[in-house]
Amino acid sequence: MTEPADKILVLDFGSQYTQLIARRVREQQVYSEIQPYNFPVEKVRTFNPRGIIFSGGPSSVYQEGAPISSEKLLNLGIPILGICYGLQLIALQMGGEVAHSDRREYGPAVIEILKTGGLFKGFEHVDEKERRVWMSHGDRVESLPEGFEILARTDNSPVCAVRHRDRPIWGLQFHPEVHHTVRGRDIIRNFLFEICGCVPSWTMQSFVAEAVEKVKRQVGKGKVIGAVSGGVDSTVMAALVGRAVGDHFYPIFVNNGVLRKNEAEEVVRLYRDKLHLNLIYHDATDRFLAALKGVTDPEEKRKIIGRTFIDVFVHEAEKIEGVEFLAQGTLYPDVIESVSFKGPSATIKSHHNVGGLPEAMPLKLVEPLRELFKDEVRQVGKVLGLPEVLIGRHPFPGPGLAIRMLDDVTPDKLATLREADAIVTEEIRRAGLYDEIWQVFPVLLPIRTVGVMGDERTYEQVIVIRAVHSVDGMTADWVRLPYDLLARLSNRIINEVKGVNRVVYDISSKPPSTIEWE
Ligand code: XMP
Repeated sequence: MTEPADKILVLDFGSQYTQLIARRVREQQVYSEIQPYNFPVEKVRTFNPRGIIFSGGPSSVYQEGAPISSEKLLNLGIPILGICYGLQLIALQMGGEVAHSDRREYGPAVIEILKTGGLFKGFEHVDEKERRVWMSHGDRVESLPEGFEILARTDNSPVCAVRHRDRPIWGLQFHPEVHHTVRGRDIIRNFLFEICGCVPSWTMQSFVAEAVEKVKRQVGKGKVIGAVSGGVDSTVMAALVGRAVGDHFYPIFVNNGVLRKNEAEEVVRLYRDKLHLNLIYHDATDRFLAALKGVTDPEEKRKIIGRTFIDVFVHEAEKIEGVEFLAQGTLYPDVIESVSFKGPSATIKSHHNVGGLPEAMPLKLVEPLRELFKDEVRQVGKVLGLPEVLIGRHPFPGPGLAIRMLDDVTPDKLATLREADAIVTEEIRRAGLYDEIWQVFPVLLPIRTVGVMGDERTYEQVIVIRAVHSVDGMTADWVRLPYDLLARLSNRIINEVKGVNRVVYDISSKPPSTIEWE
């Protein structure tokens, strides 16, 4: 791939916001990459960034084991922006003083801008609201190193924004990357365009063109296989790889028997008729259900599904001769997780649906999405002309409906859950709420309750409806669905789904609950 012209290096000192910084940069169409704080100076030179951003971090610069980057970075002549801990570290390394405090300043603050231009270009006539920033720090810079001047202050933090007079070194005590810093985007934009002189060139159109070329170069005339599920990541991956190598790509779709109503048919149609890919479809329902029979423990269900999947996939793949490559929809957050400093930013949870495949099949990996965040993958999907319904699809766990029925997995329960799920999705879409919600689905409980139907007493099953808002699946809050919609869901499920006489709504947030029930 021809490298993106202008790049920003984000060094991670363990901030929970590191990824956010990288995304804010990319939103300005400048490519950014995250590396741990101790990324070797030589590699920084080779990477040749237009600018470097030091993230914040939970440590104190004086603390034993605190992440300390090389002082040489400050002498490369590459513009640097230190955020929070990043600023404190720069101050310390250049001869200033940082005061340690156990009291954190956390929350909004209003800065007073002493000098506009540079990071504060366009801030000449800003009102109080526009000067609102987000603080989250314990330590603070007590005395500035020689050559620095103060650009902004608050009563609590006299050193709130600084610059070196002769060198391109800038620092902020607050967090421009978080949404609560009202003009944060402009500050980042100023760093990129005023200070680093970046040219915006990172677009998903250019990404697709380059990624296709890159896959072509990597694969040549070789054969590629890849597991697909019909989810956003694997479908975008498949569309891209298909565009690059055409018939040499064999996407393999395994029906694990715990998919939603009509899902397998829809996926097959999408891949064959719309994307015109060489899809290999294998319905392994019987094998999965046999392996799951009588199993009630959620983790055991997951393991069985994972193991069986690998067996079936490997078996299918072995039928294709001379395969050299395995394509995967690995995304940037998974990559960061493996390279990043072990701070909070590294604790992003990801479930690898097809985890274990590379170990089971020692093939060369093709991972065209490994530089992308999820929202960028969706944009790539749009560029590739994938249908909107696919791009906006809610996440669906690899173990599928198996972890949405408590206790064991049976064909009857699957049938019940499929009907309920179809109703829930249909009604939520009809209400125009689908795109606003992270996930919404029914769960089938392993109990029966008493009801009446006409003159008869019934003794039937209970469906739970779970709807959550979330940004990344790490935390979630239940959705305040309108009562009349809940009423419609309950009526339809009880009337149309055989064997259900009660519907309840889950009003738990995560934490302490989880999104799924198992
Ligand atoms: P929890 O239930 O942990 O879920 O709050 C967070 C997000 O992860 C999804 N999830 C899974 N995805 N395999 C997956 O591919 C799994 O085993 C799995 N378990 C949970 C869940 O749907 C939610 O989006």
